[in-house]
Amino acid sequence: MEKTRIIVDCDTGLDDAVALILAAKHPALQLDSITVVAGNQTLDKTLYNTLSVCQLLGIDVPVYGGCDRPLVRSAVNAGEVHGESGLGDIVFPPLKKKAEGKHAVLHLVDTLLASDGDITLIPVGPLTNIAMAMRLQPAIVPKIRRIVLMGGAYGFGNVTPAAEFNIFADPEAASVVFSSGADIVMVGLDVTNKTAPDMEKVERIEKLCNPASKLCGGILRFLLRNNQEIDGPAAGAMHDGTAVSFAACPELFSVKEMQVEIDLSHGPCYGRTVCSEKGKPNALVVTGVDYEKLWQLMADTIALYGE
Ligand code: BDR
Ligand code: CA
Repeated sequence: MEKTRIIVDCDTGLDDAVALILAAKHPALQLDSITVVAGNQTLDKTLYNTLSVCQLLGIDVPVYGGCDRPLVRSAVNAGEVHGESGLGDIVFPPLKKKAEGKHAVLHLVDTLLASDGDITLIPVGPLTNIAMAMRLQPAIVPKIRRIVLMGGAYGFGNVTPAAEFNIFADPEAASVVFSSGADIVMVGLDVTNKTAPDMEKVERIEKLCNPASKLCGGILRFLLRNNQEIDGPAAGAMHDGTAVSFAACPELFSVKEMQVEIDLSHGPCYGRTVCSEKGKPNALVVTGVDYEKLWQLMADTIALYGE
């Protein structure tokens, strides 16, 4: 099977860690490198978390630190969901793995320019790094095979009634990306909010008894225990893992072409992804997922860490 070459851009983050678990091992994906951005927590924390996950699971790819703040707005974080460290109550062994010296944005530009147009970007945090790379070197846009991003919603948001966190955390960056002309798949809350596991699924993962299953089990239990008040039935939702799953197995999902514009007015809809089926489409918006098959994909991929 020909693998899809991917770069994950993340703000690790509990569900980002699960995204990395899947990105590094799913047989349909070839993880080239990881770029990191501020979002769920400050950049020093999201970078530390990313490196720690890679070290723990033997994910041997280069990790690049990127932008430490949004393009225009003041920084927000999601500490109330992901905890002070950004990774809940997960504790890692002392960190030896180091980030590369090069900035993530320069890595994106150089890697995309040198590529054969075969790289899919999977941004699962604010779109700051991707927008900066597009502005720095617009010639990268036609080189991007596809952007499968976690962000936005055509229904309700999660940080405000109108906006989802990744878009709200850097709406101007999101606007640059959505208006770039790149091939975009938007994996938003409309689908990711429906991915929270029940206890049977958590236990099925834990029974795999390998380092990735232990990490994933700890993450799911933390989210289910701590986020009922914030997220209700969506607590434990695998937002970012769902985007990686789309890149691996698009046939599990239903999609609709839509025109997506980002609300940049500084009112109550700031950061909303305004989706329309009538305008000129600029994104494939994910509208549904086969829930059982999604969790089967997660379990099957996590099982590979035991081999
Ligand atoms: C998104 O926001 C972050 O907190 C999560 O990691 C995910 O990328 C969900 O709205
Ligand atoms: Ca994220």
